[in-house]
This record gives sequence, C-alpha cells and structure tokens, in this order.
Amino acid sequence: MTKYVVANATEIAPGERKIVELEGRSIGVFNIDGEYVALLNQCPHAGAQLAAYGTIFGVSEAEGPDEKIDYQRGKSLRCPWHQWEFDIHTGQSWYDPRNTKVRKYDVEVVSGSPEDVVDPDGGVQKGPHVMEGYAVGIEDEMVVVDTSRRRKGTQSKKLRTAPCAVATATSTD
Ligand code: FES
Repeated sequence: MTKYVVANATEIAPGERKIVELEGRSIGVFNIDGEYVALLNQCPHAGAQLAAYGTIFGVSEAEGPDEKIDYQRGKSLRCPWHQWEFDIHTGQSWYDPRNTKVRKYDVEVVSGSPEDVVDPDGGVQKGPHVMEGYAVGIEDEMVVVDTSRRRKGTQSKKLRTAPCAVATATSTD
C-alpha cells in the first residue's frame, strides 16, 4: 500500500482541485462538496490535461417527462480540448463526438402516455473511455491518495503525452 499526503484537509476548497505528482504521474485531487476524488491528469481521448483544466459541472436527470428532476452537482468533468464529458466519480466518458452527427428522425403522432413510447435509456450515450482514478480520503486532517488502489483507465491508441505543471507530495510509506 503506497499512500501519499497531498494536502491539508482545508487546502482544497469545495469545487477546487490540486495537481500533484505521484510516482511520476500527474494526478488531480478534487474536493467535490467534501468528497475527494483523484484522477490521472491526462484525458484518455488525446491526452489533454483534463484534471488541471477540465470544467466541473452538474447533471440533471429525470425518469421521464413531468418527473422530478434530480440535479447532481459536480457530477461531471468536461475536457478543454474536444469537450468530451467524464463522470468524475467513475471516470466513464459520456460523450463521443463520432456519434454526434445531426440525424434525421421519422416523426409520428401516437396515442398513450409518454412512458409507453419513450426509451428511458435514450438521450445519453456512454463513451468509449474511462479515466484512471485513485482512492483518496482524509487521515488526521490530511488529504491522502493511495496509488496502490487504482482504477485502471482506458485510452486512445494514439494518445500523446501531455506536459504538466505539478506540485510534489509527501509519501506516508
Ligand atoms: S483530449 Fe480530451 S476530449 Fe479530446
């Protein structure tokens, strides 16, 4: 188990992030309303510094028309290069520009309720990539990243290595 102290608990304010270098990798440590998340600072699509320059945003979801809207603050991270969107907790991409062509659809008028005719899974497409992530928590008022508990990500075959500006961290080993 390799744990690194990366910040004091008060150092990364809610909605903010800190970029650190651990084991030669640039990693972004986020405070999402008190929950900490650590992600590799490299977009799996083409290598942009996604953790450093990505935009954190909320997502609204509803079961269907006229249903209660569930707003999840700070749920996603949008890449600055090609605008792909990633779930900040799972690293899953939810946007694939290859599938964003304008399409022509047939339209018809049918009777019945919307639930009878609307695909509840329609609207959002799972993308092809998952961001690499790390376990992160608070120990003795310190933010600690555990690099041995890593969620492997996927990446494009043509991924370029992105340059990075980082802060160093202290190992607890
Ligand atoms: S490099 Fe991130 S979306 Fe292309």
